[in-house]
Amino acid sequence: MSLVPMKQILDEARKKGYGVGAYNVNNMEQVQAIMAAAQATKSPVIIQASMGALKYSNFTYLKHLMLAAAEENPDIPIAMHLDHGNSLESAKKAISLGFTSVMIDGSLKEDGKTPSDYEYNVEVTKSVVAYAHQFGVTVEGEIGRLGGIEDGVGSGSAHVTDPDEAKRFVDDTKLDALAIAIGTSHGAYKFKGDKNLAFDVLEKVRKLIDIPIVLHGASSVPQELIDRVNKYGGKMPGATGVPMAHLQKAIKMGVSKINVDTDGRLAVTAEIRRVFAESPDKFDPRDYLGPARDTLAKLIESKMKDFGTAGHAGDYKPMTLDDMKKFYASKK
Ligand code: G3H
Ligand code: 13P
Ligand code: ZN
Repeated sequence: MSLVPMKQILDEARKKGYGVGAYNVNNMEQVQAIMAAAQATKSPVIIQASMGALKYSNFTYLKHLMLAAAEENPDIPIAMHLDHGNSLESAKKAISLGFTSVMIDGSLKEDGKTPSDYEYNVEVTKSVVAYAHQFGVTVEGEIGRLGGIEDGVGSGSAHVTDPDEAKRFVDDTKLDALAIAIGTSHGAYKFKGDKNLAFDVLEKVRKLIDIPIVLHGASSVPQELIDRVNKYGGKMPGATGVPMAHLQKAIKMGVSKINVDTDGRLAVTAEIRRVFAESPDKFDPRDYLGPARDTLAKLIESKMKDFGTAGHAGDYKPMTLDDMKKFYASKK
């Protein structure tokens, strides 16, 4: 099976009422862990890479890891997605590498930090839609703004999505999936007090728009992982995330894509710290990257079950980008 457009994976998830995790990658072990989890649970999967990840892996390496994932797992629908693309140029780059989906985060200017306005967001999103759809590539956009700053992504100031603006944005841009801000944020420190999400906003948006909804900043920051990080020499006091029950409620209310990066980072870090603390004599990277990969796979496996993705890999005949290209052309 080749890589499939993300639109198909999300449309199918929406039809059946389950969520699909989109897991961030930077290296081989992360890609392998995601695919091991997808195989173990028979789940469709979205692998996503940020611009930072693409630069870190020198672009070509990530391209071939993604192709390897598809070649090794012909029975699993995989979408390869650009996370937080910041310009038309970034979308073009990802599409040239073979990505089947791109996000254009027009809620921020090209620097990934400065809040933009509605007109800027519409303009840049429309340009990416026009370009990507020619290739059958899915486009995710964002309206509203997440709080928090994660390695250069985010302005620090949150702005919960206005449902009417969300509707206008979908009509104005004709994008395929919409990320909304309902109180989550990137990183490992999401809430100071109550872990409230604006479910009322989600409910209103769901009623007004007819495309898949995306939740960024959706890591749960499991206390057990934080305890292990801290036990073996880390320092992450007060780390908090979105409880799984909240995510499951959001899925029931119509969220289809759930973005997870931080939890994967925590799983890898906790395990590497454990190996180093318990076996200070180890110096072969396989001795710590291998266990870290296994720990990450287990974490993602449990998320696939909790999000309801498990068991859905074989539900549908995968579409090609060419099929999707024809679909977009027929809508013009
Ligand atoms: O939303 C941001 C993701 O967690 C990616 O982070 O830009 O550090 O790769 P990154
Ligand atoms: P977390 O930091 O909660 O994992 O969110 C990741 C994300 O939204 C990637 O786009
Ligand atoms: Zn994000």
